Amino acid sequence: MPLLLSAPVNRRSWLARFRRVRGASLAMCESLSPEEYRLQPCEEVSPPWWNLGHTSWFFMRNLLVPFGGQSEPEDDPYEYLLNSYYDSFGSRLPRAARGLVSRPTTDEIYTYRASVDRRMEELIATLDEERFEEFAEILAIGLQHEQQHQELFYTEIKYILAQNRPELRRPYTSCRGEGRTAEAPARRYVPFEGGLREFGHLDEGWCWDNELPVHRFFLTPYSLANRLVTCDEYLDFMADGGYANPLLWLDNGWQAAQREAWHAPLYWEQRYGGWWIWTLAGMRELIGEEPVCHVSYYEADAYARWRSQTFAGEQGARLPTEREWENAARIVGVPASAGPNSFPAGVPASAGSASFLDSGRLHPAAAVGVPASLGPEERLAIAQLHGELWQWTASYYEPYPGYRPFAGALAEYNGKFMDNQRVLRGGSCVTPRDHYRLSYRNFWPSTTRFQFTGIRLAQDAT
Ligand SMILES: [Fe+2]
Repeated sequence: MPLLLSAPVNRRSWLARFRRVRGASLAMCESLSPEEYRLQPCEEVSPPWWNLGHTSWFFMRNLLVPFGGQSEPEDDPYEYLLNSYYDSFGSRLPRAARGLVSRPTTDEIYTYRASVDRRMEELIATLDEERFEEFAEILAIGLQHEQQHQELFYTEIKYILAQNRPELRRPYTSCRGEGRTAEAPARRYVPFEGGLREFGHLDEGWCWDNELPVHRFFLTPYSLANRLVTCDEYLDFMADGGYANPLLWLDNGWQAAQREAWHAPLYWEQRYGGWWIWTLAGMRELIGEEPVCHVSYYEADAYARWRSQTFAGEQGARLPTEREWENAARIVGVPASAGPNSFPAGVPASAGSASFLDSGRLHPAAAVGVPASLGPEERLAIAQLHGELWQWTASYYEPYPGYRPFAGALAEYNGKFMDNQRVLRGGSCVTPRDHYRLSYRNFWPSTTRFQFTGIRLAQDAT
């Protein structure tokens, strides 16, 4: 296993971090009703009870068992119930059945979580010094895994709560998630030179195996849109028959759109003569300047094709590759005026105004307007690169050249999914801020809509 570990460096720091991350998972579930813990409205959306249990099982299976932590009789059934996709650990509850079982009860899952926490804290305090470095590398993975599931939780509970009749829906949060609704900056494309560049996790600190190794790749000149596509801009695509024109769509996307009757992004509903959207703060009117979200790769791709065919000066508009996105993110967005960088390594200081989970907004914010008189540095400003919405890229999720997966069963964590999925970059309004890095590679099937996904366009240089 590559040594990816950085701080924390001592047991007390590990313990504090363990408690903080585990506590955040409990806090996000505080407002749930008993029913809301159990529902699985579609296979991709796991119920919260399972999310809480699975993240605990991960520590049990990958740390308590191999490092001699205390075992309990209660652990046995959870091997089957809470294994997500690790074939090397044996058979498991089918993913689509997580909402069908009434046992364990939610109370039993909380008891199990507390038991795992107690045993983990004991192991962190008492494990032999010779094995602690190896232990800590897997502990880091377990904590990052838990944070991934925290992000998943917000997308899952949004989908779960949306299933109710509109008049009976309750919001998850009272935070309205609005603000920063100033007029969106005029759309521009920011040019980037081509050349041989380095990609991957170039910075200090921890990263997933799929962000390594650092490697070189040749880019041809291109340009990247200065902000995400807004709801108003997406409405133009809809009004122009975007969902009814097969010439704009990849075939698999067209088939999915017909099969699932897509006619707008997920969570858009027509009411009182206008468009309303379901947010974690409830239903509200669409705000045109906000970035369009909850679109699949196929919708993003069709939108790009429509822009290419519709607007002079945008011929060839397309989604960026992940390396075009990464190169741009390394070059721009670090103005000297940005001030101290409070982000972990690899996240530009300019992301300070972005919406990550920590902002509490739970909804993407509109781009902040750029002054009419632009200095040379501001002309290169690209809004909403980090936080707000995961941005679909045209890149298939593939291993970087020389990729080496994590050792043992954790080789299943990322590597086996490098097939038939697309990479997304940038983090979102429900990504924990200290979980994110510039080199972070998210990935989902092209039909995915329930994640916080948005659209940024690119063009070849003319
Ligand atoms: Fe997981």
